[in-house]
Amino acid sequence: MTHYYAKFSAFGSNAPKKLLTNADLEKIVDTSDEWIRSRTGMVVRHIASEGEAASDFAYQAAVNAIEASKVKYKDIDQIIVATVTGDHIFPSTSCIVQKKLGLKGVPCFDVSAGCTGFVYAIDIAKAYVESGLKKNILVIGVDVLTKITNWKDRNTCVLFGDGSGATIVSRAEPTDISRIIDSIIDADGSQGEYLIQTAGGSRMPASHESVDKNLHTIYMEGNRIYKNAIKSMYASSDELLRRNNLTPADVDWIIPHQANLRIIEGLADKMRVPLSKVIINIEKYGNTSSATIPIATDEAIRSKKIRRGDIILLTSFGAGLTWGSILARY
Ligand code: UT7
Repeated sequence: MTHYYAKFSAFGSNAPKKLLTNADLEKIVDTSDEWIRSRTGMVVRHIASEGEAASDFAYQAAVNAIEASKVKYKDIDQIIVATVTGDHIFPSTSCIVQKKLGLKGVPCFDVSAGCTGFVYAIDIAKAYVESGLKKNILVIGVDVLTKITNWKDRNTCVLFGDGSGATIVSRAEPTDISRIIDSIIDADGSQGEYLIQTAGGSRMPASHESVDKNLHTIYMEGNRIYKNAIKSMYASSDELLRRNNLTPADVDWIIPHQANLRIIEGLADKMRVPLSKVIINIEKYGNTSSATIPIATDEAIRSKKIRRGDIILLTSFGAGLTWGSILARY
């Protein structure tokens, strides 16, 4: 069987226009700008308005990615959307995006891996392209967590924002310097209860009681997740680099999931890389779940920080628990 290589063709992103600042949050719950900045690094987030949903941002991020690439709409042969806050439980958000893009006939499916969703989706797209089954896969990370946020819970409501980032994973030509080198995905389902949307699924369908008790909103034991975050992102990044005979010093840019600035700093410290090599935009978006990595990557490419040929390492963790890393030459 012929083996092909996959590459990132281009990135695009999109976020709601409406902003929510730390000062706004001070009016909603007992919190302070000082607490939020010092404990999370967050300052402002983009949040969806009434009537806006995941596919709206996913569609625009996809258009931006396609326009930044040399790929034609007609050459896209699969759509994968990573999300836990799709427009509906079904049909999949990827099918809604397919319709908006006018790509009838292109197979689509969603991936649910919490904040690690984008990394999981890239891992899947890479395998499809390497096997020769597909040539140009549109991969989108989108989440609208503010629609499932408990605005009375100060432990969680200050953390999240909404948005989407997209890329096209394409077959690399033999002359291409760009290539997705390797990827790792991992999970530990035994810790799923620490980050969960309890109600609304088949275990506990939506009811008056579930709504009264806010069980359809995000429940998180932040401290437990925090401890796992640095450990798991470090473990998958370290293994990925080692098995490719690279060290952190060989990496030009690390693009970590943006859940907490202290987690990002802790990871950089453990990897012994300076923060100047880490892409950080958490102050502008908060935690947008599966969208943090593609939004941060898109911004870093457009501001010419990341250039063609740079070695990039994407790493994430989230609900499941799930985690994983992607190593690529952009
Ligand atoms: O995307 C993947 C999933 N999410 C994450 O990765 C999040 C991971 N966790 C975190 O980032 C951190 O655990 C948090 C930012 C959520 C919390 O930071 P922490 O340093 O772990 O704080 P804590 O939960 O230990 O709480 C410390 C104190 C508590 O008060 P007491 O019990 O010590 O009196 C909280 O009640 O801070 C209090 N607190 C707040 N105070 C003001 C919690 N939230 C707030 C708030 N404003 N918004």
